[in-house]
Amino acid sequence: MKRDVKAIVKEMTLEEKAGMCSGKDFWHLKSVERLGIPEVMVSDGPHGLRKQADEADHLGLNDSIKAVCFPTACATACSFDRDLLEEMGERLGEECQAENVSVILGPAVNIKRSPLCGRNFEYFSEDPYLASQMAAAQIKGVQSKHVGTSIKHFAANNQEHRRMSCSSEIDERTFREIYLGAFETAIKEAKPDTVMCSYNKINGEFASENYRLLTEILRDDWGFEGYVMSDWGAVNERVKGLKAGLDLEMPGSGGCTDKEIVEAVKNGDLDEAVLNTAVERILNIIFKFTDNRQEAVFNREEDHKLAAKIAAESMVLLKNEGILPIQPEGKKIAFIGKFAEQPRFQGGGSSHINSFKITGALEAAKEIAEVTYAQGYEVKEDKVDEKLLEEAVQTAKEADVAVIFAGLPDAFESEGYDRTHMRMPECQNLLISEIAKVQKHVVVVLHNGSPVEMPWADDVEGILEAYLCGEAVGQAEVGLLFGQANPCGKLAETVPYKLSDNPSYLHFPGDGKTVEYKEGVFVGYRYYDTKEMPVRYPFGYGLSYTTFEYSDMQVSAEEIKDTETLKVSLKIKNTGNMTGKEIVQLYVADKTGAVSRPVKELKNFVKVELQPQEEKTVEMELDKRSFAWYCTELADWYAATGEYEILAAASSRDIRLRKTVKVISSQNLPLSVSRNTTISELLENPGTAVMIKELAESLVAHMGGSQEAEEGNAAAEAITPEMSMKMMENAPLRSMRSFMGMKEAELDALIQKLQDAVV
Ligand code: BGC
Repeated sequence: MKRDVKAIVKEMTLEEKAGMCSGKDFWHLKSVERLGIPEVMVSDGPHGLRKQADEADHLGLNDSIKAVCFPTACATACSFDRDLLEEMGERLGEECQAENVSVILGPAVNIKRSPLCGRNFEYFSEDPYLASQMAAAQIKGVQSKHVGTSIKHFAANNQEHRRMSCSSEIDERTFREIYLGAFETAIKEAKPDTVMCSYNKINGEFASENYRLLTEILRDDWGFEGYVMSDWGAVNERVKGLKAGLDLEMPGSGGCTDKEIVEAVKNGDLDEAVLNTAVERILNIIFKFTDNRQEAVFNREEDHKLAAKIAAESMVLLKNEGILPIQPEGKKIAFIGKFAEQPRFQGGGSSHINSFKITGALEAAKEIAEVTYAQGYEVKEDKVDEKLLEEAVQTAKEADVAVIFAGLPDAFESEGYDRTHMRMPECQNLLISEIAKVQKHVVVVLHNGSPVEMPWADDVEGILEAYLCGEAVGQAEVGLLFGQANPCGKLAETVPYKLSDNPSYLHFPGDGKTVEYKEGVFVGYRYYDTKEMPVRYPFGYGLSYTTFEYSDMQVSAEEIKDTETLKVSLKIKNTGNMTGKEIVQLYVADKTGAVSRPVKELKNFVKVELQPQEEKTVEMELDKRSFAWYCTELADWYAATGEYEILAAASSRDIRLRKTVKVISSQNLPLSVSRNTTISELLENPGTAVMIKELAESLVAHMGGSQEAEEGNAAAEAITPEMSMKMMENAPLRSMRSFMGMKEAELDALIQKLQDAVV
């Protein structure tokens, strides 16, 4: 049914329109019965449905309906699997249809700037491209079921500390390339119905009343057509927010901000047309849902199975010295650690799901092997319990293999506050090292939402990173440990050796009022790899029980215009004897030297399944954006003319194949010529290059730089013409006056001539 929303808005009173712009309560929008506007519900998100029926809150304090807790974003991102995320989205969409939820609040795509952010478990990656791809897939999946999504938290909300008041201070290039990047690509590719603005300020202006963010960037630049809602309680000044592009305030304000809107229209401070537009946007999405209701059942058993499959495809095998997969026959296997029995599989706060059922590893292993168990540590308190420790060491000693289930307890990371260090509880670190003293064959399985220091990494034979992998975590762990499935996840973030290695270390979380993003675009592997810094495990890294060989990389052209697309293909072969999946990553390295950039950046990836000895050709595309950086002078993306290396890699530190291509830019950087414009700037512009080269050469000659290096001519021996030319490049035009005796009027004429020649 095609609705004439504009006509409905015309029928609404000023009060009804203002009322439409804030929630009725925590989770509902208001209805206007006389005009057939129904009441709709929104719910968290992002990795399960948190539909609250009774006492409402936004921090997960009160119970919601029983639902399926899928793996959290820190885990699903490691799958690098667009199809899988789309499937998860479809299932979430169906659950929403079954429960009459119009918008599910997610996905959350904020960049993992520091391992300390309490909410990293809800975020995908340190890389904006990977985050965008995972988010776009999830959005497409949910929305294919005619349920809306709300991509969040827009923008630069990369810490919990003072999240409702702190200002993220970011330069424009960094903002565009890193912190807006995931939003931009996901919004353009998947068109989420709504965007949720964040609590924080950006360069001094609250996101909720930031016209540049909510209108100029989001709508004018990116073409977003849905509605913007506030994070819960993120509104500071309501009327200012509405003018900036914040359509819906959540939750309700008990009517007081609605009154402010009415007042502002009446006294002429707010143009009623702005209000009408906001209401139209909200109504469009409401009717999109109510006019497309689908019969759906919430099949929790089926969804639990999907949660197990996603978990198995997301976990990352970090270390394996021949210990995995475990052959259970005739072996005594010990499972150690509380998390084997009661796994940690999700984070605290608004995303907390009232899980329908939970499968821990101990329970899941029953069908496969006989295992002994010892609790090992307490979760509630980081205190060594000698009895538990002793019992665990003894159990491990008596076994042939010990699998320790460890990680971060709930209190260590959550929405609402950040971690202060990157360590695991000391009682768990001690447990692992004590067991490693008596048992050679140890595997550690980690449950955490963000990287931890691993002082014991060299003392164990295997490490499986399970992250926070949803309610079916145990099933997936056991499948991987015993080889029923082959690990195929790769890290969506770098694991540094220690916190102080992280690029944001000196500036995170700021002084409470502001947080400065001083590391610029050098976030995550962009920093570690450019610095050539040793890391515990690099971005994009993960092991398999089989091996893969990369060969025969081809590019569709040696040279492309920046308006063209480059196709890259290569062969990938499973050289082992178990079916497996490889994540092939494509990085681009800018060799033009036009600007300071990370040594490489992820620009595409593909996940491919191969039977033993099978070989497939995979193909990926790169476009202008894959080569470009955000040039503030142009206020646009810019790929300088020159060479770029295309790297096909198994991780950011494991480059298997490379090819060089040339990109020809269709843009020239703007150049305003003045007496202080340098020779090098003029050499870069094709319009002025020839003219300035001739002049520079004669300037060099004037300064004696063309002298041949004769025997005994000390000056000429010390400074060659090439050296003079290099020095000259840094000279401003006014040097012509000092060193060539150019008159002021001649200099002015030259400046004019050069300006006319600029292209
Ligand atoms: C969170 C959002 C969440 C909202 C509603 C806020 O505290 O930041 O992510 O969607 O509450 O629960």
